[in-house]
Amino acid sequence: MSTDTPVSTNPSHRKKVTTLTFRQKKERGEPITMLTAYDYPTALAMDRAGVDAILVGDSLAMVVLGYENTLPVTMDEMQHHARAVSRGAKSSLLIGDLPFMSYQVSVEDAVRNAGRFLQEAGMDAVKLEGGRERADAVRAIVGAGIPVMGHLGLTPQSVNQLGGFRAQGKTASTAKRLLEDAHILEEAGAFSLVLEAVPARLAELISRDISIPTIGIGAGAGCDGQVLVTHDLLGLFDRFTPRFVHKYADLHAEMKKAFTEYIDDVETKRFPSKEHSVEMTDEEWDSFLEEIKK
Ligand code: KIV
Repeated sequence: MSTDTPVSTNPSHRKKVTTLTFRQKKERGEPITMLTAYDYPTALAMDRAGVDAILVGDSLAMVVLGYENTLPVTMDEMQHHARAVSRGAKSSLLIGDLPFMSYQVSVEDAVRNAGRFLQEAGMDAVKLEGGRERADAVRAIVGAGIPVMGHLGLTPQSVNQLGGFRAQGKTASTAKRLLEDAHILEEAGAFSLVLEAVPARLAELISRDISIPTIGIGAGAGCDGQVLVTHDLLGLFDRFTPRFVHKYADLHAEMKKAFTEYIDDVETKRFPSKEHSVEMTDEEWDSFLEEIKK
């Protein structure tokens, strides 16, 4: 970065989005927008674009850290990225995703780790995966004054139990269980629910049946809001693109093109040119040459 460039302080003119805003948007039938972010510049751009909520998702593990699934990412790694996001985004509601094993062992762990997201990383809320088996954790976290977003359907932290990244709730009995779980999480105090990879008509029915907003990913247009993994939306993650993603850009290709041009420019000495170089006056230069002659 040039030393002459002043660092922006990101004056945000938007009103801060809160969990109350989520509720009001559902009541007014206004779609809620959410995206994932893991770093300062992306969070800054998203916040300025006006996204309602930013999720520091544990998808970090796959799309940024290069792991096969979300299981290896730790609480410390999540915190590190959440802190960067909160430095960039001032108006969006910021949600920290509790990683695998940070809330499953005990309710005490769940509350402590949820608290770390707010106390040390500037998040406004947390998200965790699972239904009835997580009701106690949700209740305890909410009881500590921390808003909780639930996550039902395809819950990637249970990839081994689900037998892969596959759609959920496609049979009458699993659909019924999902609807019950949505009610249980609502009653436990969750302020919102992510519904991932579930049939569109089921997601729509759940959205109508509960009072808290649903945020869909691969769950159709009947949800109260939508979320995508930003690296999928931007075409930055080249391993695979889920069927439900709309790619708004192909930044992997754009990055590769820019890197190739840079390599070529350096190798052919087109870069750096005079305009990219720092100069000193002839006077100082001559005096320097005199000095080193001694
Ligand atoms: O980690 C994540 O990015 C998520 C979204 C897919 C909702 O949980």
